[in-house]
Amino acid sequence: MRLDGMSIAITGAAGSLGSALALAFAEAGAARVTIGDLDPTRLVGLGQEIEGLGCRAITCALDVTDPSSLDAFVDQAAAGAARLDVMVNNAGVLNATGRIHNLDDEEWQRVLDVNLMGAVRGTRSAVRIMRGQEKGGVIINTASAAGQTAWAYSGPYCVSKAAVIHLTRVAALEYARDRIRVNCVCPGTFLSNIHAGLPQEAIDRIAERHPLGLGNAQNVVGAFIYLASDGARWTTGAAITVDGGYSLP
Ligand SMILES: NC(=O)c1ccc[n+]([C@@H]2O[C@H](COP(=O)([O-])OP(=O)(O)OC[C@H]3O[C@@H](n4cnc5c(N)ncnc54)[C@H](O)[C@@H]3O)[C@@H](O)[C@H]2O)c1
Repeated sequence: MRLDGMSIAITGAAGSLGSALALAFAEAGAARVTIGDLDPTRLVGLGQEIEGLGCRAITCALDVTDPSSLDAFVDQAAAGAARLDVMVNNAGVLNATGRIHNLDDEEWQRVLDVNLMGAVRGTRSAVRIMRGQEKGGVIINTASAAGQTAWAYSGPYCVSKAAVIHLTRVAALEYARDRIRVNCVCPGTFLSNIHAGLPQEAIDRIAERHPLGLGNAQNVVGAFIYLASDGARWTTGAAITVDGGYSLP
């Protein structure tokens, strides 16, 4: 699958999956990858690696909880190429481990604000550009196996990712006539910075639910490349489960 000449923007790009995606898109022929994260100093090395692959890299400070930050990010992505082909809403956080009664409103809102509303805002910002493009565009949301199955002690995370899957389906319908395809990827657990601070036994417990065990970000990128590519031109509203995402009984 080739992405030759494409202009692609990725949120949460300093993280494990975001950086793997940025490099994979550059390797697949993208002309311009715009990478955003809370701390842009974490993007400098990645930007250099992307440029080393012959792809233009634009690094941006980005906070997906701020609509104007997302608008500015998307504007920067579209500026040089005069278009935005693919928007990946990938930024995400885990909730503090706890049952529903132990997690207060602030914790629910913190997780929903990044995981769900970040994807809502990213969609809004991207369609602002894509609706005016002759070829439309592609939006890919990073959901999770946690949005397809229920996990205890992970209420805000599971609920936010289930909502992202449904957001994807609604957006796919709403923007099909604007030639914008909207899909999501539901990875199973792969080790990343998002697990920093979680005890090993908690990670082991999560991994046990996945038939293929713990993965890594590299196991996940292929689904994104497929969805971004012309090979998926008739695919919209899909939730692609990868990396053994189904829960074992
Ligand atoms: N690691 C897994 O097992 C797994 C499984 C399924 C889905 N996911 C999803 O994959 C995505 C990437 O996660 P990861 O595992 O690479 O974790 P990660 O922690 O390495 O990356 C997440 C990135 O999002 C950024 N981020 C957080 N809040 C932000 C904000 N307000 N604005 C901008 N950026 C922000 C973080 O700074 C971080 O760089 C997330 O949406 C996550 O929920 C991860």
